[in-house]
Amino acid sequence: MLRTRICDLLKIDHPVVLGGMASGTNPALVAAVTGCGGLGILGVTFMTPEQQRADAGRIRELTRGPFGLNHLLAFATEDRYAATLEARPRVVSTAWAWADQDLRPYFDRAHEAGALVMHMVSTVPEAVRAVGAGADIVVAQGTEGGGHVGWISTLPLVPQVVRAIEPVPVLAAGGIADGAGLAAALALGAEGVLIGTRFLATPEAPVPAGYKQAILASDGHNTLLTEVADIAFGLVWPGAMSRVARNRFVERWAGREWEVRQRRHEVARQLRAARERDDAEELNLQMGQAAGLITEIAPAARIVREIVAQAEQIIRDRLPSLLAD
Ligand SMILES: Cc1cc2nc3c(=O)[nH]c(=O)nc-3n(C[C@H](O)[C@H](O)[C@H](O)COP(=O)(O)O)c2cc1C
Repeated sequence: MLRTRICDLLKIDHPVVLGGMASGTNPALVAAVTGCGGLGILGVTFMTPEQQRADAGRIRELTRGPFGLNHLLAFATEDRYAATLEARPRVVSTAWAWADQDLRPYFDRAHEAGALVMHMVSTVPEAVRAVGAGADIVVAQGTEGGGHVGWISTLPLVPQVVRAIEPVPVLAAGGIADGAGLAAALALGAEGVLIGTRFLATPEAPVPAGYKQAILASDGHNTLLTEVADIAFGLVWPGAMSRVARNRFVERWAGREWEVRQRRHEVARQLRAARERDDAEELNLQMGQAAGLITEIAPAARIVREIVAQAEQIIRDRLPSLLAD
């Protein structure tokens, strides 16, 4: 069985983590990933304290295993962060802090609440900064990932981060959706993977059916980086653009960001309405290039099991067979 240091640290069976997607996770998905031996993380950035309490309670009804709660630090508020700590998750997962935001108080408070801190970065200096502030695990996320990403790919980013912060364990994220991706991440020096897009194409994921179908339909070539939806929702990100599928909504607004700023309430209303009526051409379809690897909607637990089994098979059979005597 595949075991890495992250399995021991998190007390999980498989080195596979569900990314804490604010717009793509719910208790059912988190519990499904945790329940089959991975680590589920719930995105709670925009949840009220009451919602967080209810969702953490629901996860505990569904599984006895460890789980994480995720905050996008650029948008963290005191009441919501305090509610996260009160919920006593095994992992406090964080990402996207402002350059001048002090990480130390967030991480210290998480440790005092008995949690491990997992921080996601998209550059080497961010990784060094996170470890300096006390992070226990660093997620190195490449630009091919879904949602908000930086500018360097997973393949060159992960080994650089591993080297820079050794012996702190690193998870690879961005572009991983199958066992070959997990095996590759381990070869790069990561202790496991954190996955977003693959887990959106599950029955459990709380995104519209048309969104899931758009992931299946994508060959991975039709994504681009844009700020259009962020501008409409009034969210200024610390240096990140969002990787989304090119659809009618993006075609209409990309390059006309000034006009989105001018009409942002109207555009935000249209995006929410598109979600209500499940219109994939008018939705903000955050997804990564790994969509090209995804061909079916499958239960999250099966995805975890298949990724691990494929990775084991590659490591056990294919790779040794390549070594000449
Ligand atoms: C719809 C969507 C929403 C996301 N929201 C968050 C979030 O709230 N917090 C976070 O740390 N990462 C978020 N991410 C990034 C994921 O945690 C993960 O790093 C990324 O999906 C990895 O790339 P992949 O999509 O190729 O697996 C999001 C990703 C997607 C696709």
